[in-house]
Amino acid sequence: MILTEANPAAIAKAAALLRAGELVAFPTETVYGLGADAANALAVGKIFSAKGRPADHPVIVHLADPEQITDWAAEFPDTARKLAAAFWPGPLTIIFNKQANVPRAVTGGQNTVALRVPANPTALALLRAFGGGVAAPSANRFGRISPTQAFHVAEELGDKVSCILDGGPCSVGVESTIIDLTDDAPVLLRPGRITRAQLKAVLGAEVRLSSNTQIRAPGMMAVHYAPHTIALLCNPETLIGMIDEQCAQGKQVGVLAHSDICRMIPCRHLILLPDRAESYEAALYSSLRELDNLQLDMLLIEQPPASEEWAAVNDRLSKATV
Ligand code: TXA
Ligand code: MG
Repeated sequence: MILTEANPAAIAKAAALLRAGELVAFPTETVYGLGADAANALAVGKIFSAKGRPADHPVIVHLADPEQITDWAAEFPDTARKLAAAFWPGPLTIIFNKQANVPRAVTGGQNTVALRVPANPTALALLRAFGGGVAAPSANRFGRISPTQAFHVAEELGDKVSCILDGGPCSVGVESTIIDLTDDAPVLLRPGRITRAQLKAVLGAEVRLSSNTQIRAPGMMAVHYAPHTIALLCNPETLIGMIDEQCAQGKQVGVLAHSDICRMIPCRHLILLPDRAESYEAALYSSLRELDNLQLDMLLIEQPPASEEWAAVNDRLSKATV
């Protein structure tokens, strides 16, 4: 495995590896992706074995340019055009009805395909150099915390990838917002940096929340994005009491907090994140990973506010905790 700075020579090499059917991990603005040539079913199959991911879970196809949509989607509806114009390149994934030739390994056997044009310059350079679509889930073992730095990928999958392009820390830090446009009305499948309110403003229509009756996205399962250490969400008011209680029992506790009152918490393993949702998001996964690596008895996480801007954080925290 090569872990390399994402310079032009490394990007050209990575594109050649993709063409040869190998796996390449690369940065996006959301999280690092584990990429394979989306038109090559065998290559896509390698993603599933590397991650230990069930074969019926579809993957996102990443493209350099919205012009390439019709290579993968059966149609490019006006709603999608509006969203693409407003948010691409960027942290939005759109579900389309698929073209007949999209490999089954990409769609997990569904009639739909997930497409995204990412904004990260390394991701875009790799996609341009490669030319086609790159299938890429987050570059972590199935169910685990998504990587937001190159060394996280090396930790998780170092022995499984041919190359990791290091483009530094991901600026957004949580996975893309996913919107499904294949139903009568738009449905939000996964909250992310781009909020429901922003989508509604561009579409001029309400965006329904997924009813969760059918698991179409692994990120929709109740336990996902999870640390190994048992993790609990606590109200800001009960957090300090919980820490005292656990410490009194001789437990080693890690704390992830964000409100100012927690600054004084007498705990050795306290990470105080920013109390703005976007900055919190950017630091969330690396902080969880750092606390998880300490092999403590328990992680206590201060519950963020329930407002719309915290939707992505609350979604991921609810899946990372018991
Ligand atoms: O930000 C992201 O989206 C990152 C970066 C690498 O682009 N990727 C990512 O991939 O989070 P992954 O596989 O960890 O999550 C993609 C989600 C999954 O929950 C998957 O089920 C869903 O997208 N998905 C993919 N194709 C779909 C489809 N046809 N219908 C519904 N959901 C789909
Ligand atoms: Mg994932």
